[in-house]
Amino acid sequence: MNTVPFSALACPLDGEPLLREPSRWCCPQGHSFDIARQGYVNLLPAQFKRAKEPGDSKAMVTARQHFLARGHYLPIADALAQVITDFSPTAEHLRCLDAGCGEGYYLDTLAQHTEIPLELVGVDISKWAILAAAKRNAHVNWIVASNARLPIQDASLDYVFCLFGFPVYEEFARVLKPQGKLVMVDPAPTHLYEARKLLYPRLKAEQASSNTVPTGFTLVEKREIQQTFTLTSSEQIQNLLLMTPHWFRATPEKREQVLTLAELNTQLAVTINLFQQTPQRR
Ligand SMILES: C[S@@+](CC[C@H](N)C(=O)[O-])C[C@H]1O[C@@H](n2cnc3c(N)ncnc32)[C@H](O)[C@@H]1O
Ligand SMILES: [Zn+2]
Repeated sequence: MNTVPFSALACPLDGEPLLREPSRWCCPQGHSFDIARQGYVNLLPAQFKRAKEPGDSKAMVTARQHFLARGHYLPIADALAQVITDFSPTAEHLRCLDAGCGEGYYLDTLAQHTEIPLELVGVDISKWAILAAAKRNAHVNWIVASNARLPIQDASLDYVFCLFGFPVYEEFARVLKPQGKLVMVDPAPTHLYEARKLLYPRLKAEQASSNTVPTGFTLVEKREIQQTFTLTSSEQIQNLLLMTPHWFRATPEKREQVLTLAELNTQLAVTINLFQQTPQRR
C-alpha cells in the first residue's frame, strides 16, 4: 500500500484549509470537526442536511459490501488502476477523490494495486457507508459530506472518480486541477439486464446515460467493460438487487418471486468515460 494522508480538506463552513490535529480537523477561523473513533470525519453540517439519515441505508451498505466482496466488480477497480497507469505514468504522487464512495471498495482496491503514491479521499453522504469504509481501510481519509458541497480545496485534485453516483459537475470542476481528470463509471444499457428482468417483466434495454459530455469538460477517452457472472444463492441475488433502485421500485410479489431463485447468470456492462476540463478561452 502506497498511500499518503490527504492534505487538501477545506472547512465546510467557509472553505478555509483544514489542518489536522491529533483528534480533530480545524480551520483558521476556529471551526473544528472531531475525528470519530473509527477514523472518519463528518463534514456535513446539520444546516446542509436535507434528511435525518441521507444517502444509502445500513441495509443497502451491508448488501453492497457482501456483493462486492465476491469480486464480480473487480474489473471496474482494475480499470480505474489502469486509467491511472495509462494517463499518469510518470506522476510522482496523485490526489484522488471518490465522490459517493459507498463502502470504500474502489479506493481500497486502488490503494492496494497502484505503485504511484496516492492521497485518497472518499466522500459519501451516508454515514453508514463511511463507517463501513473507515473499517475497511485506515489509510484513506473517509468523509461524510455531499457532492453538492465538497469540503475540498479549489484546484487541488488530480482525479475525481464517480461510480454509479450522483455527479455535481460544477463541484468536480472546482476541486480538479486544470489538467485533472474526471472518471465517470455508469451502467451501459445491458447492465444487469437479466437481474432487472426478474423484477420488471416487460423490461427494455435502458437508454445509455453516459453519452453526454458535461458542460466545461472534454471527453478524452471512453472504455467499456462487459463480463458475465453467476450468483449462486437467493441471498447473493438479493444483495445485488438491494444495491440498485430496482429492488425498491418492484412490487412485493416480484421481490418474493426473486427470493425463490437459487441461481442467476447476469452481466456487468459499464462505460468508463474519462473527461478533462476544457481550457478556458481568454
Ligand atoms: C449507487 S451507490 C454507489 C456507491 C459506490 N460508488 C459504488 O459504486 O460502490 C450511490 C452512493 O452515493 C451516495 N450519495 C447519494 N447522494 C449523495 C450526495 N449528494 N453526495 C455524496 N454521496 C451521495 C449514497 O449514499 C451511495 O453510497
Ligand atoms: Zn471554518
